[in-house]
Amino acid sequence: MASSLTFSRALTKANDRHSDHPTRITRQFPFARHGRLLPLRRLPRALMGSNSSSRAEALIDSGSQVAAADVPVLDGSEVIQRMRARREDWQGKQQFLAMYSSILGGITTDPTAMLIPMDDHMVHRGHGVFDTAAIMDGFLYELDQHLDRILRSASMAKIRPPFDRETIRQILIRTVSISKCREGSLRYWLSAGPGNFQLSCSGCPESALYAIVIQDQSPFDSGGVKVITSSVPIKPPQFATTKSVNYLPNVLSKMEAEEDGAFAAIWLDGDGFVAEGPNMNVGFITRERELLMPCFDKILSGCTAKRVLNLAEGLGKKGEIRGITLRDVTVEEGKAAEEMMLIGSGVLIRPVVQWDNQLIGDGKEGPVARALHDAIVEDMKSGPSSVRTPVPY
Ligand SMILES: Cc1ncc(COP(=O)(O)O)c(C=O)c1O
Repeated sequence: MASSLTFSRALTKANDRHSDHPTRITRQFPFARHGRLLPLRRLPRALMGSNSSSRAEALIDSGSQVAAADVPVLDGSEVIQRMRARREDWQGKQQFLAMYSSILGGITTDPTAMLIPMDDHMVHRGHGVFDTAAIMDGFLYELDQHLDRILRSASMAKIRPPFDRETIRQILIRTVSISKCREGSLRYWLSAGPGNFQLSCSGCPESALYAIVIQDQSPFDSGGVKVITSSVPIKPPQFATTKSVNYLPNVLSKMEAEEDGAFAAIWLDGDGFVAEGPNMNVGFITRERELLMPCFDKILSGCTAKRVLNLAEGLGKKGEIRGITLRDVTVEEGKAAEEMMLIGSGVLIRPVVQWDNQLIGDGKEGPVARALHDAIVEDMKSGPSSVRTPVPY
């Protein structure tokens, strides 16, 4: 098996191609006069078209109306009161158990107080990076791998973290400890910080670290899903390899999938090769029973995908796969694979049974995806200390 050799060579492969997105043509609106747009509801239907932009127009037009004169002016305690009432109404499946903010210099367990300043450049400029780590059985899974990645992303985004790596690590572990969460996830952000509403953060006094602990006890679903090819353009490599908060393309791609009854939309890179999903990597089992993944030079370097590459060596030893390769993957190859899977900390391993109109393999969940799913769950529960950080509750 050429697995680790191929893998490390692929990781260091120079990023020698740049994506070429075709120039987009902007439609001129003939009905914009004297700098004002006519109200949408008065536009003739024929002008609105039936594509996604008309859906967006319909969304803009569908908001409820409020008389501006009735908008109250609130003092600080009324703001808190209203936030608390809203939070009670919002009660979803997830519970937010603790939040750390370097701006406050502390941890709060009151969800109402889990706020980020409006003048934080992460909020109004998207100048922030983030990462996650799963919490399982009271251990943080792959904390160090995710920590390395957020620091790499911060450096790409020219954000100098407010603390050194070890301090950030200790703050994250303490936040989980205070939350008492044993099953869920930890999310954290490094931001250019608050200070003003300029473009550059040069006037901001300090960068910021925020972290939140989210309780989620629902088990990972391993049922087969359908994917489509994304029509939303992929981010260029410089931004696709940085885990920044600029996830609008990812969000639109996921929404496009949902509108099509699919689980995710798969991006192709600038050269038409298979890239990744909106919050997951992709892998294939070829007809030659090889585990095949796209290289990480133009997509996010997934911590789960990299761990899967290691764990898959065990399947190789048992003869369940014949090799592991990282290289460019064509759409034709991907669609002709025996198995396809989505890989990421949010999904673990999710078998893909259909891509666009093409069934993958026999259209059922494949045995290798199942074995890799079991291997990663096992790793989360009893893997080595390099991937499991105990939380001292
Ligand atoms: C664009 C993108 N690709 C891949 C991944 C998978 O990365 P990981 O396995 O580290 O969660 C993510 C995760 O959020 C992502 O956002």
